[in-house]
Amino acid sequence: MISVAIDGPAGAGKSTIAKTASKKLGYIYIDTGALYRSIGYFVVSNGGDIDNAESVVSFLPNISAEIKFIDEAQHVFINGEDVSDKIRTEEISRAASKVSAIPKVREFLLELQRGFAKKYNVVMDGRDIGTVVLPNAQVKIFLTASAEERAKRRYKEQIERGLDVSFDEILADIKERDYRDENREIAPLKPAEDSILVDTSNLNIEQSVQAVIDTVKSKIGE
Ligand code: DC
Repeated sequence: MISVAIDGPAGAGKSTIAKTASKKLGYIYIDTGALYRSIGYFVVSNGGDIDNAESVVSFLPNISAEIKFIDEAQHVFINGEDVSDKIRTEEISRAASKVSAIPKVREFLLELQRGFAKKYNVVMDGRDIGTVVLPNAQVKIFLTASAEERAKRRYKEQIERGLDVSFDEILADIKERDYRDENREIAPLKPAEDSILVDTSNLNIEQSVQAVIDTVKSKIGE
């Protein structure tokens, strides 16, 4: 089985790029951020205290998380409920970032992620895929873009959706999330030693997808 690990900060276009590249390669795409978001969503919607690790961890024994593919799209089910369309809010982004810093939450999700790579050729996108989840992945890519460029993209996206947002707040939020993800004690966001850096600051989606595909092909010799 071939595993392509794609790690990098929020807003670098990772999921769009990884999804499109996986289709072209004929591999399964796994968005691991959705798992952390789903745990965050479950805790928040069941009255847990997202800032208290003990409270979050107390929910884990009652959570069964599954990934299913519907029309080729990944859906996350928590205790049988499809939560996929409820986990994309700013509130759940923050909750996901917080629960992802808790070691027991990471441990809880580890086997689920590894299981897919055992069965299928995968493109797996996250923060610690090349470093922790799939340290033996044949291809490791660290996909990034400057914080300003990521904020610009997020701002444009929100304005197009008709939301009234401030660029400075978005930039501050991105920087805060980067800081938390990069400085947490467990599985901090950092490039694996054997990863290849793809910086999308000056690339459009198509060029970024091509850069990923070229990197995969050069590594696996196709
Ligand atoms: O990629 P995303 O924005 O959906 O991820 C949500 C949060 O989950 C983000 O703050 C980082 C965290 N995360 C993680 O710690 N490890 C992963 N493999 C994927 C996401």
